[in-house]
Order: sequence, then C-alpha cells, then structure tokens
Amino acid sequence: MLTDLKPQPADKILALMEAFRADPRETKIDLGVGVYRNAEGVTPVMRAVKAAERQLVETQETKAYTGLAGDPAYAAAMRGLILGDAAPADRIAAVATPGGTGAVRQGLELMQYADRAATIWLSAPTWPNHPSIVRYLGVPMKEYRYFDDATRMVDFDGMMADLAGVKAGDLVLLHGCCHNPTGANLTEEQWQTVADHLEKTGAIPFIDIAYQGFGDGLDEDAYGTRLLASRLPEVIIAASCSKNFGVYRERTGLLMAIAPNTKARGEAQATLAFLNRQNYSFPPDHGARVVQMILDTPELRQDWASELEDVRLGMLDLREQLASALRQRTNSDRFDFIAGHRGMFSRLGATPEQVAAMREEHGIYMVGDSRMNIAGLNAATVPILADAIVAAGV
Ligand code: LMR
Repeated sequence: MLTDLKPQPADKILALMEAFRADPRETKIDLGVGVYRNAEGVTPVMRAVKAAERQLVETQETKAYTGLAGDPAYAAAMRGLILGDAAPADRIAAVATPGGTGAVRQGLELMQYADRAATIWLSAPTWPNHPSIVRYLGVPMKEYRYFDDATRMVDFDGMMADLAGVKAGDLVLLHGCCHNPTGANLTEEQWQTVADHLEKTGAIPFIDIAYQGFGDGLDEDAYGTRLLASRLPEVIIAASCSKNFGVYRERTGLLMAIAPNTKARGEAQATLAFLNRQNYSFPPDHGARVVQMILDTPELRQDWASELEDVRLGMLDLREQLASALRQRTNSDRFDFIAGHRGMFSRLGATPEQVAAMREEHGIYMVGDSRMNIAGLNAATVPILADAIVAAGV
C-alpha cells in the first residue's frame, strides 16, 4: 500500500516557508506565509490571550470531552463578534472546528451532504487551499473573475458577469474581508450588489472570514458578512481566530450555517455534529475557550480589541510607507494601490520571474503570484523591498 502513494502537489505557501527557513542569508525578508509579525519579527502571544490562559490554568477543573459541536458559549461569543444581531440565533447552527481550514472543510462537507450536484464558485485568485480542498472532495467548482491586473483593484464588472452564471443552490465563496491573496476588497455598495444578485438567483454565500479586525476595524470588516446574513435565507460562514487572536497553532475556528427556519437549523446542527464525529470527534477546546473568555470578559475584550487595533494600524502604516517609498523611486503613483489594499496581503503584480529575482538577488520571499505579507515588513526593510521592486523592473 505505502509503495503505491503518489506525490502530492506542494502547497506553494508552505513550500515557500520551508525555502525561507533553509536560506542562510541573515538579510532575508519573509513576506510569505500569512502570520502576523511585529517590528522585531516576532509573532507575539497577545496580552489578553496570556491573561486568559493564566486564568484557565488556575480555574479549569477538567479536560474531559466537550460536546461534539464544541462549547456552545464559544459559538455564541463568536456569533456575536462576527454577526452582531444580523441574524436570529435560533436560525444559526454552529460547530467549533480545528482552525479556519477545518471550518472550510466542514462547510464543504455539509454542502456535499446536502446536494452533491451543486457547484462552488471561487474567486480567481483565491487562497490556494480553497481549490485544493474542493478538488480533494470532488465538489464541482467554477471560478469568477475578481482581480484586475491593471488597476490591482477588484474587477467588479468581470465578477458580476461571471456570477451571472450561478444557479439556485450553488455556493459562492466570498472572502468576508481582507481578500487573500490580493488585498483588494469589495466596497459596501458592491456588497449590496452581490447580495441583490444572490437573493435573485437563490445562490448561497459561503463566506470565509479569517482576518476580521485586520482591515478597517472589527465591525467594518464584518459589513459584508452581516449584510448577507441579514438578507439571505441561507449563509455558510467559516471563521478563523488564528490571526485576530494570534492563536495559530491552537487551531481555533468556527463553522456557522444560517438556516431559513429553526427546523432546518436543527437538522444543520445535527449534521455538523455528525460531520465533526466522522472527521475528528471533538474539536480542539483550548483556543476556543481562551477566545470565549476574552470575548465574554469586558476587560480582556477591551485589551484584546485595543492590541488588535494597534496591529491593524501598524500594517496600514507599513502600507503607506511602502507606497510612498515606491512613489519616490518611480516618480509615479502606480504603486498607490498598496495603500488602498486592506489586510495582511497585497498582490504586487510582479511576474514569476521578477518574484524569483527578488528572492535570489535580495533574499525577499513572497508567494510566486507576488502576494506579499505586509506584516513581514518593518521601517528598516520597507526601503530594501522598494529598491528590490524597482530593480526587478516591476
Ligand atoms: C496564508 O494564506 O498564508 C495563511 O492562511 C496560512 C496558510 O495556512 O496558508
């Protein structure tokens, strides 16, 4: 059996992480994997996370299993954070999952369980693990245009023209905020147009929200998700706490399914618990409990939100610095889109050869499609990157 295994295509983000680790140059700069780093290059444990963990060590009496859906208090706290009161709780099924990836996977499994004929529509481009999981599960997949290579902003006309092809019951995967890999996001007006279209066609939004709080603010980043949740009968939401709580390795995610009525909600809840059981039984609890404690304890929540806000503003400042360094070097505003993008990433628009040249000659690691992790920069490396971008002829 083991000799029959075929090699799998490498995940380009994880392969880049390995290549960066193997590079001996001290001056190398990691703009690859989507992990937040502060100016010292450290991914810190957030203050509120440390405080909640301390409290947990002192007060937790048992490590016995939680329920199959995870702790309902975690789901309720996350529901409030993501949806506010956009949809009634008695229509929302939810399960804790191992990270955002686990949530995406369980959402797709739910879709397959309900209707194997439906198609999922992915933005072109999207996070590479989306099509990878979709293909692995054998779910029919189509793409819709999303990014305009010339302006480096959303190709909204192309997107809507492609989404004209959706059928009732199809799922449309949308990034709730901070689009990965481009950094280009829908405006509030564009979200309204998407909502109108989904409402008219009966297609179902599948929202992946992994960077809430990294773009324009916690509530602002939930705008599109809340709009769809308030208007449509069915919405699937895969959420990650990896980035905004900095609990990457704890694998803390949530899958929510908004159902048209309470009866369908009950069936969705039972199916999600069943799917958890088939795949890993009980979801991990430590990260979820820490997140729930933070969200439900006013002082911890305030401290978390304020640290997250500092992270967000720091990334915005780096965006401004890079756009301005490139403005000076090129005497043009053609890189101003970097300041207009939101979240951890920007797609620079460099060719694979230019990306390779920046890696080989300057030790700058970005994903092959020229996705840069803005949080991998600091005031000292911004000018180095700007020089390399110009030298590569981007
Ligand atoms: C990324 O896009 O770099 C992150 O979401 C990490 C990952 O798992 O790919």
